[in-house]
Amino acid sequence: MDDERFISSSMNPAEEEVETSLRPKNFDDYVGQDKVKANLRVFIEASKKRKDALDHVLLYGPPGLGKTTMSHIIANELGVPIKITSGPAIEHAGDLAAILTNLEENEVLFVDEIHALNRSVEEKLYSAMEDFAFDIVLGKGPAAKTMRITLNKFTLIGATTRVGMLTGPFRDRFGVICRLEMYSPENLAEIINRSAKILNIDISAKAALELARRSRGTPRIANRLLKRVRDFAVVIGEGVIDEKMVNKALEFLEIDELGLDVMDRRTLKTMITKFGGGPVGLDTVAAAINEDPGTIEDVVEPYLLQLGFIARTPRGRICLADAYKHMGYEIPQAKAAQISMFDKLKDVDDE
Ligand SMILES: Nc1ncnc2c1ncn2[C@@H]1O[C@H](COP(=O)(O)OP(=O)(O)OP(=O)(O)O)[C@@H](O)[C@H]1O
Ligand SMILES: [Mg+2]
Repeated sequence: MDDERFISSSMNPAEEEVETSLRPKNFDDYVGQDKVKANLRVFIEASKKRKDALDHVLLYGPPGLGKTTMSHIIANELGVPIKITSGPAIEHAGDLAAILTNLEENEVLFVDEIHALNRSVEEKLYSAMEDFAFDIVLGKGPAAKTMRITLNKFTLIGATTRVGMLTGPFRDRFGVICRLEMYSPENLAEIINRSAKILNIDISAKAALELARRSRGTPRIANRLLKRVRDFAVVIGEGVIDEKMVNKALEFLEIDELGLDVMDRRTLKTMITKFGGGPVGLDTVAAAINEDPGTIEDVVEPYLLQLGFIARTPRGRICLADAYKHMGYEIPQAKAAQISMFDKLKDVDDE
């Protein structure tokens, strides 16, 4: 999997501790995502005034953009406790019953990777979301009886990188659905400066911005790069991070000026040289470079889409002109018209 991949935006366990220390605890420290924050602030305020549970919230977007962080902040701003679990951890309806019956009034239940719930648990969960009740079937056959357990009101916060995998009825049970966007370099620079302060790292403003530009729009990657560059600065410099140090370190880590790493470039190169620039299915590309399709979809694709390097078509992904240019390939004459058509569409088709 992508654990060894430096730029992987998923988390490795050793990182968890530092990540917790860098995690903002309230809206004011949570940089960017202004629209999402503004909406949530209103809903939180309203539910506090009504002394009622906040509507269920679904947060989605690529890994490392701040879904878990946001969930904690929501509970914090509501002034209620939070229980944390994940889709794969709830195997049976019984597990879910145990969790739900233990929730306090208005508590937040955070379910990470909510797309990975199995169908029977999912159905139980959505009736609980709607009616705040849980039906247990006792016995079997004609003698079976249903017992209804009334639950405390609670707020479910679901997080997922794959919102497309949720069923329609499930999605409809969430009153608030928020998509987290990739961050601008300016926002990422702010996050880097904040983290540098917490970790006692000396970094110049220019260096922070350069690092931000190469962090694929992702706070987790920005924080990770900051720490790696710091290590570099300690070993080969005087510990201070300037622009030159950033460039040197990232060159060593084989991260290019746009933040693309070896795997991104291999993906693009394979699409261009082996599949004529597409359209080609992601699974096919993944197989050709011997990589996990899920990793390509979650980690590689979102940033390439964001850059406008690739586009989604009904027949697969297609490389666009900027990808050819960045990778140093000419667009074949026969493909030029097709590529420029998708190039024109790319700004429109933002999901
Ligand atoms: N808006 C933000 N402002 C400041 N720091 C942030 C922000 N968003 C995320 N971070 C930092 O990035 C790290 C990763 O964020 P988080 O764990 O919330 O991502 P995630 O979306 O839950 O990722 P995954 O999909 O892998 O679970 C956090 O520890 C935090 O330090
Ligand atoms: Mg998370």
